[in-house]
Amino acid sequence: MRYDTPSLVRWNARAYDSSFGYVSAHGAPLIDLLDPQPGERILDLGCGTGVLTAEIASRGALALGIDGSPAMIEAAIAHHPGLDFIVGDGHDFTVADPYDAVFSNAALHWMNRDPDAVIECVRMALRPGGRFVAEMGGAGNCSALTAAMLTAWREHGLNEPHLPWYFPSPAEYAARLEKAGFALRIIEFFDRPTPLDECPNGAADWVRMFAGALLEGVPPATVEPLLRRVNELAAPALRRESGWMADYVRLRFAAVRH
Ligand code: BEZ
Repeated sequence: MRYDTPSLVRWNARAYDSSFGYVSAHGAPLIDLLDPQPGERILDLGCGTGVLTAEIASRGALALGIDGSPAMIEAAIAHHPGLDFIVGDGHDFTVADPYDAVFSNAALHWMNRDPDAVIECVRMALRPGGRFVAEMGGAGNCSALTAAMLTAWREHGLNEPHLPWYFPSPAEYAARLEKAGFALRIIEFFDRPTPLDECPNGAADWVRMFAGALLEGVPPATVEPLLRRVNELAAPALRRESGWMADYVRLRFAAVRH
């Protein structure tokens, strides 16, 4: 196992858990798809602060949470004493004993360096017949948010930012799973506009939270005008009377290891 932190992501575990609790709240249907059984060994890949790991454990499964961010794992251990959590890279982990299922919510799109390596690690972690049940950002995810970012960066004369996410189409991800030795059981692809309830400053807050590392390359005096421009550009698509929405697109699937 190699332990490291994704280079572009500087997670703030407290903000992630409170302001962005929807990551966990929206995980309930995925847990239903997983259908954890008492005594099953289930690995939660990209577990964040461990809310869904704890939900899986509450169904009687033996859950292990793994995440690339030491800050997230520290928070997970603090919030859920008695559960097991480790820091690990989704591209490069091994387990001593095989699992009945690997579960992942809103995390696979961060493992963008080599999606096939991630799928292979998952396959190796599963027993034959074991399930891979996950939800991630799919093709077109955050398109208004990212278009606003790219335009604002360009208008300010900055180099185009390398966006640190992988948002595949259902066809692409299904092909990767099947090539790796999984039988696909279910794949769903749907829009899920998501209120940014805790983002009073809209898209700018979202960028700070999820793409903060990209701001490190921006001259300090440019950051505020840049983010103001992101908000101006994103507002027509994403600001409603009720508040800001993120234009999320979900790819949800269940597959079984041959
Ligand atoms: C998502 O859940 O789709 C997502 C969240 C933060 C950054 C990028 C994507």
